[in-house]
Amino acid sequence: MFVCLCKGITESRVREFGRSGIVTPYEIASALGIDDESCCGRCMGNIESFVSLAISAWNTAVTCPTQDHDCRK
Ligand code: FES
Repeated sequence: MFVCLCKGITESRVREFGRSGIVTPYEIASALGIDDESCCGRCMGNIESFVSLAISAWNTAVTCPTQDHDCRK
């Protein structure tokens, strides 16, 4: 599903960013390239949804082989 029509960005692309550790609103907007003048900015209203998608992908991507601590801290 497309989350940004101007840039043709899909939900799965946002999840890829999340798996690579891009999870804050600023990082996501910058990585998506929705901060330049060619964008309408409509999808920025959904930035919290983008963050949720990215964080859920990030949480599933981070696995510690020892399983005895949280590697994200
Ligand atoms: S829909 Fe994303 S910038 Fe226009």
